[in-house]
Amino acid sequence: MTESGKTLWHGRFASGPAEELLAYTVSLPFDQRLWPDDIEGSRAHVAGLARAGLLSEDERDGILLALDAVWSELSSGEFVFVASDEDIHTAVERRVTEIAGPAGGKLHTGRSRNDQCATDLRLWCKRELRTVAQRLVTFQEVLLERAEQAGESYLPGYTHLQRAQPVLLAHHLLAHAWTFARDIDRLLATIDRLDVSPLGAGALAGSSLPLDPAFTASLLGFSKPFENSLDAVSDRDHVAEALFDLALIGVHLSRIGEEWVLWTSEEFGFARLDDGYATGSSMLPQKKNPDIAELARGKAGRLIGNLTGLLTTLKGLPLAYNRDLQEDKEPLFDAVDQVSLALSALTGMVATATFATERMAAAADAPTSAATDLAEWLVGRGMPFREAHAVVGALVRKTLAGEGELRDLVSAHPQLGPEAAALVAPGVSVRRRTTPGGAGPEPVARQLERFRSQLASDRARVAVAPLR
Ligand code: ARG
Repeated sequence: MTESGKTLWHGRFASGPAEELLAYTVSLPFDQRLWPDDIEGSRAHVAGLARAGLLSEDERDGILLALDAVWSELSSGEFVFVASDEDIHTAVERRVTEIAGPAGGKLHTGRSRNDQCATDLRLWCKRELRTVAQRLVTFQEVLLERAEQAGESYLPGYTHLQRAQPVLLAHHLLAHAWTFARDIDRLLATIDRLDVSPLGAGALAGSSLPLDPAFTASLLGFSKPFENSLDAVSDRDHVAEALFDLALIGVHLSRIGEEWVLWTSEEFGFARLDDGYATGSSMLPQKKNPDIAELARGKAGRLIGNLTGLLTTLKGLPLAYNRDLQEDKEPLFDAVDQVSLALSALTGMVATATFATERMAAAADAPTSAATDLAEWLVGRGMPFREAHAVVGALVRKTLAGEGELRDLVSAHPQLGPEAAALVAPGVSVRRRTTPGGAGPEPVARQLERFRSQLASDRARVAVAPLR
């Protein structure tokens, strides 16, 4: 509704909207965060109208001043919303008209809320997805720093959550950091693809007025205008892509979360949380709980839900705009908020935790961790790997049956002997992981170098990602 309490469509309607309709269709509670983008979009549209001769210079300046005033009211929190403000677009236009007088009534010339809301959301995505990418970079910096501090500390690497082979702690931490490099890449690619202005598409078919979508696109910092007006107002691919990127980040964070739940348990005891990043129990005085890690694990469900919810909304929608599309915003905003909060909390948690490296080493030094090294030692002496696997496997079975320490059994074995038995000593196995990309000190030192340069280039790419 407008200032006079009329709807934007009052001319066509004999009576006003039912309260239930307004209550159900209103989007202001969640789309008001688009206000800076809405005002930016309107500034560009006003410039386009003036350029097309549809506004006099005075009218243009009057509306621009009113937009400035609305900007300061909204940024200072003085802006008063009224019950009839259906969405942020309606609210801004109403207030502009209150301030600018009749010229304000020309603001919506040649524009529909359909191209307007699509434009606003793309502007919002460009900014906010880049901010998420920056948060990922910050988390990577912490992982890198912790990896550098970890030196040659090692822990068991697991498969099937059974101890498999020792790996450097740095290697383990960097595994997550490389994952985030792909997440950053995906976000930047999503930003590149969504960098198209829908403004000028109107409700669905463009306009009879001499508007120039390329002009407003460039004012708004978009790399190009839309090619097809129907596509421009109905395309939400970028929201779906962003939700996928964020859901996958959520899945990655959930894996870190699960790991830290295990690592901080008494059973593992590989890490201790800083008091600031742990919670206590209301009843059990001894408890120190990894709630950040648990929520990182748990909230992945909601992020996946946001993606599947939007895809389901989009499925089967006919061209062009349908009100269903209003359902794009809540899942997107929620996903960006949740991933942002998770990244900050996990970054702090990892930055401040203490690693119990002696306990990690003790777990990794279980004699059977060297089993693969023993088999590979036999391979080095010409034995086919299958045979070597069986020889060592039989010794492992003996030691597990209580028939002696693995080291002694190896020492006494005719094909192995004392030289091979030295492989069973603490800290030996991890140093034998020497191949490129492997888990031992030599390849990890090279990996650290490569990761540092990857991080520097990603940091630069994120900094110049198309904003405005
Ligand atoms: N609030 C709507 C949205 O976010 C925009 C309004 C378009 N409404 C309309 N009846 N054409 O999608």
